Amino acid sequence: MIYMASTKIDPVKTVMESTFQIIKSVSADQTEIISDIMKLHLSGRSFDLDPTYSSGAFYKNLSRPAHVYDLNPQKPEIQKADVRNLPLRSSSISSAMFDPPFLVGCTFETSRMGKRFGGFKNWPDFFDFISRSLTELYRVLKSGGVLVVKCQDIVNGRKQHLSHVFIVNKATEIGFLPIDIFISVREQVIIQSALKNQQHARKTHSYFIVFRKESSGKRMKRIQGRLF
Ligand SMILES: C[S@@+](CC[C@H](N)C(=O)[O-])C[C@H]1O[C@@H](n2cnc3c(N)ncnc32)[C@H](O)[C@@H]1O
Repeated sequence: MIYMASTKIDPVKTVMESTFQIIKSVSADQTEIISDIMKLHLSGRSFDLDPTYSSGAFYKNLSRPAHVYDLNPQKPEIQKADVRNLPLRSSSISSAMFDPPFLVGCTFETSRMGKRFGGFKNWPDFFDFISRSLTELYRVLKSGGVLVVKCQDIVNGRKQHLSHVFIVNKATEIGFLPIDIFISVREQVIIQSALKNQQHARKTHSYFIVFRKESSGKRMKRIQGRLF
């Protein structure tokens, strides 16, 4: 009898090999998440627009979006613009990455962090900014266009502010459909001795939420329950 050892399939190895190729929803590497979003949702292409570009840390090993803006540009190649009023034609953009400021209680005028990343006096200001920005991004995106919002939840005065819940609800109300979600985890956490009487879990994660702009026809069908 002749044994064909080389053609024998090892089921354990096969499962392991295919597992390694699967794109997962959680990663400690932000660049991996952005690159996975590009593979899955942009057919491997780079983003068209980043309206809160800052220094472009997101694109260290990736190609830069064609349109990059920031209210406080860090480099000459970045155009100054407000994400709530972009110098772009309606329905002209295929994809956008939006990483809004998330600090509440410190603003551009009142703190160094606020000056660097932007911030809000209070929660109503934050909600207003997000609503206006999402509305403007909806305007500039083509129907079927992809929007990614990076956000993180915050604890302020012992109160949980689940920003991602507000963002998903507001984006859906405006006409976006959530199509994917990724969680970015920070592996290194600074531990302060003052945290001995810990009241809640220290947040070491943020979200990349992927939305698609629905056409008004599809949206209407969904609202009427005629599209599942
Ligand atoms: C969290 S940072 C973005 C970091 C960026 N993703 C990176 O990879 O470096 C938020 C950025 O939004 C900018 N910003 C704040 N308010 C803005 C506004 N109204 N319009 C456009 N950019 C704004 C800030 O200047 C800051 O650079």
